[in-house]
Amino acid sequence: MSILVTGGAGYIGSHTVVELIEKGYDPIIVDNLSNSKIEVLDRIATITGVKPKFYKVDVCNKDEMRKIFESESISAVIHFAGYKAVGESVAKPLMYYNNNLNSTISVLELMLEYHVDNFVFSSSATVYGDPKVLPITEESEVGGVTNPYGRTKYMIEEILKDVAKVNSNLNIAILRYFNPIGAHPSGLIGEDPNDIPNNLMPYITQVAIGKRERLGVFGSDYNTVDGTGVRDYIHVVDLARGHLAALDKLDTKCGLTIYNLGTGMGTSVLQMVNAFQTANKLKVPFVITDRRPGDIDACYADCSKANKELKWQACYSVEEACKDSWNFQSKNPNGYDY
Ligand code: NAD
Ligand code: UD1
Repeated sequence: MSILVTGGAGYIGSHTVVELIEKGYDPIIVDNLSNSKIEVLDRIATITGVKPKFYKVDVCNKDEMRKIFESESISAVIHFAGYKAVGESVAKPLMYYNNNLNSTISVLELMLEYHVDNFVFSSSATVYGDPKVLPITEESEVGGVTNPYGRTKYMIEEILKDVAKVNSNLNIAILRYFNPIGAHPSGLIGEDPNDIPNNLMPYITQVAIGKRERLGVFGSDYNTVDGTGVRDYIHVVDLARGHLAALDKLDTKCGLTIYNLGTGMGTSVLQMVNAFQTANKLKVPFVITDRRPGDIDACYADCSKANKELKWQACYSVEEACKDSWNFQSKNPNGYDY
């Protein structure tokens, strides 16, 4: 079965492509490589023995995308393509609204045109804003987002609900990811951020490898176990497997459904630093700095809906994820650039 994977050369997409191949699917990657490297295709081939089909195309370019829908027999789309850096979205809102909204609309229009019924969308826990109650369920309030990136995710969710209402043939899984970390245990694929990492784990691994002097811990006066921010860190391989579970669910003709994909467990920044140090027998120097604007105290998922309906559960521990993040970073000190 051919699955179109937009953004399939990226961090979460590449891990999902590996899982798809290993389960016997034929993933077709469409990626413009705006935030990924072509090298990832060879890495996927080394892991799986299969080099996935690849189109270097901008998903917003509907004419080019139509050619792909015309020539391939696609049974479902997993839509990862989009920009994801919160700070950049504040500086360049139009770039984010343009890419994230238009890429989604372009794919949806073609799916309707070519009668492709199953769609998996990469949403984010960011749509919950600052949650009033923890753990967060899919019924928790959404929309209180604090930045343009988050608003694109919220807006796309609303678009999907409107489209699903009038297209009863469409089956849509909105997956709200919590914080993905880790890498494939082979150390061949992983997260390879451009420039200075925004997220905690790639910053830690870059400190550990000596690229950055020390980690700035953004605030120690949050209302949490030790004053530092608490998040729900999920291993990227667990997350990738959640997409396969969602594909199975879509095959039952379920209409539009929403799932939290996390572990259900909160980890503070200092707990994460400790877990990384213990797992890898390394020191990560850090300094407490001011809070980062827009950050919240704590965010972790109630995943019982995904556990029950998708028969999916995160299996990896934070320590295993720390090991795998470091394995990728240490084997690839400069990411996919040699
Ligand atoms: P990533 O940047 O590694 O992957 C996204 C891929 O999409 C990249 O390979 C990029 O080149 C490609 N892309 C972007 N715009 C494109 C376009 N117009 N046409 C074709 N390709 C395009 O990001 P990721 O971490 O793998 O995230 C994947 C998805 O999951 C994104 O939609 C992101 O917003 C969402 N998400 C990520 C996180 C996270 O922490 N990584 C959390 C929640 C949600
Ligand atoms: C951020 C985004 C969110 C996005 C998510 C995944 C913001 C405000 N939110 O979430 O929209 O969906 O990434 O891409 O940017 N931290 C440090 N030092 C660092 C980096 C992070 O202390 O150098 C702390 C943060 O304050 C936070 C935790 O580590 O408490 C996790 O941060 P991060 O990895 O950036 O994820 P989120 O803030 O959850």
